Amino acid sequence: MEKLSTDIGLVSTGNDELDKKMGGGIPPSSLSLIEGQPDSGKSVLSQQMIWGSLRNGYKVAVFTTENSMRSLITQMESLNLSILDYYLLSKLHIYPIDAKRSAGSMNTGLVPMIQNCASEGFNLVIVDSITYYATHVGITDLITFFEDMKALTSKGLSIVCNTHSYAFDESTLIRIGAMCDAHLRLRIETMGTKLTKILEVAKIRGATQKTGNVITFDVEPNWGIKVIPYAKARA
Ligand SMILES: Nc1ncnc2c1ncn2[C@@H]1O[C@H](COP(=O)(O)OP(=O)(O)OP(=O)(O)O)[C@@H](O)[C@H]1O
Ligand SMILES: [Mg+2]
Repeated sequence: MEKLSTDIGLVSTGNDELDKKMGGGIPPSSLSLIEGQPDSGKSVLSQQMIWGSLRNGYKVAVFTTENSMRSLITQMESLNLSILDYYLLSKLHIYPIDAKRSAGSMNTGLVPMIQNCASEGFNLVIVDSITYYATHVGITDLITFFEDMKALTSKGLSIVCNTHSYAFDESTLIRIGAMCDAHLRLRIETMGTKLTKILEVAKIRGATQKTGNVITFDVEPNWGIKVIPYAKARA
């Protein structure tokens, strides 16, 4: 029988401390929205999920408007999140997308590709990012996209969509966030003399533990996301 992602545990970041702060991790068969300003860590957070999930036996597909296959592998290598072996074993598929050329085709181009992933037994799909699509389709198409994604989660697929917050007005963000099982908001704040990255867990439906609502972190070479205590971040 085809293995559903519900059989294989959480969408882990591969970082226990981070998973714990996110209520134990993102539940399988879920739709997640990672949203934030430029440079706030959307891609790195989703790269942690790619790596953590591959290590947990997931089959992962990445649709990227930001990287080529090679640059994604190199980028993740720089964070000590090596995925080359999984790629060579076909446990990881990378689909670079020219968003500019396909911007209007969110529901006719991107959706069928993700539907294919569901029928081909993938457990996790990451879309980094939907920003360009979102700024080129109307609200009705956007809602349809998220409805289609939500429908695929009932087939055992987990889906994570990254987007720049500026792609939506606040009311649309709230509406879309409500359709998702997990809503993660990233931002950069000045604390003292430093810029600190902040992950706000707006919601995780089905979290097994209490979530830390606000997580401060840094991105470190050869490490990835490093959770830093709030007091230290402020110092
Ligand atoms: N190997 C690395 N070593 C150190 N810092 C890194 C490394 N890789 C990424 N970063 C840093 O992590 C931060 C977050 O980058 P990331 O690409 O995740 O942001 P983003 O929110 O996806 O940005 P964008 O809106 O441009 O897509 C950036 O400051 C980046 O410089
Ligand atoms: Mg990015």
